[in-house]
Amino acid sequence: MGIRRNKGWELRESEATPESAFVHRRSLVGAIAAGPILVSALGSATAGNGDPSAGLYPAKRNARYTLDRPLTDEKLATAYNNFYEFGSQKSIADEAQALKLRPWTIKIDGLVEKPMTLDMDDLLRRMPFEERLYRHRCVEAWSMAVPWSGFAMAAFVDFAKPLGSAKYVRMETFLDPTTAPGQKQVWYPWPYIEGLTIAEAGNELAFLVTGMYGKPVPKQNGAPLRLVLPWKYGFKSAKSIVRFSFTDKRPVSFWEALASNEYGFWANVNPAVPHPRWSQAEERVLGTNERRPTLKWNGYGEFVAHLYDGLQGERLFV
Ligand code: MTE
Repeated sequence: MGIRRNKGWELRESEATPESAFVHRRSLVGAIAAGPILVSALGSATAGNGDPSAGLYPAKRNARYTLDRPLTDEKLATAYNNFYEFGSQKSIADEAQALKLRPWTIKIDGLVEKPMTLDMDDLLRRMPFEERLYRHRCVEAWSMAVPWSGFAMAAFVDFAKPLGSAKYVRMETFLDPTTAPGQKQVWYPWPYIEGLTIAEAGNELAFLVTGMYGKPVPKQNGAPLRLVLPWKYGFKSAKSIVRFSFTDKRPVSFWEALASNEYGFWANVNPAVPHPRWSQAEERVLGTNERRPTLKWNGYGEFVAHLYDGLQGERLFV
């Protein structure tokens, strides 16, 4: 896909505030679109979450994962979103209420012992359920700290029984342009795709999220099932997943398909490797005026650095 680079390349580091980073990211998309951004026709539906798993919460917190900063205010973390299916602005919460959470089926296919489709609540019953506190670092250089509930992706991979030939897991988000007006914007490579190596998916930090702040995860944050990978940039954390495919081919993600020079497969957090159009050295902590130095692997190196031994020739940090 032809990407026209804007003058963002020439931004001085001091000018690359997270907001401007975001504006430039959007202008990149705008350049691709060469057309008007659709305005949501969904109005301001604010119906309840409608999630029958609500009785499961709050989950017992796993004390192994601790934070170096206060939790982000729930109101902020649930109102400042990236969910391009519902628009490219941060305030998509109202639009996202159109998402219908049940029935919700999860397909498991590709290189597995037995492909299957199962109901979301059936899956939930089979998984070990817990709460974890994680930092989240968006590629746009803002960060938050969130209490997520859900289950280790390693447990899900065990359940899926991949064959020895499976090297990657590819995740796919729902596709329904009648619900998600952003999906009518045909210049995006819908549906939203993300991928991990099997080793990454089996790492203890990889977490499949169904809840947030002791409640079912709100629609705008990726209900009913999203991924959370705290050592990678936030765009790897695919929302509202409907399919997991085990494969021997490296998946090409939504953002990589759109701009492979700016968003790669690995996308591990590293302050020393700038995004082509802005610095990644610092992050703006949501809800504060604080700018913190960003940590390599987002501070989770003791858990994940070994996954990348021998891969130094790859673009691990973009
Ligand atoms: N998943 C889907 N399906 N669509 C998206 O646009 N945005 C990603 C990620 N997952 C996105 C997605 C990006 S860029 C980030 S930073 C996080 O979701 C944001 O998650 P949050 O809104 O819960 O903070």
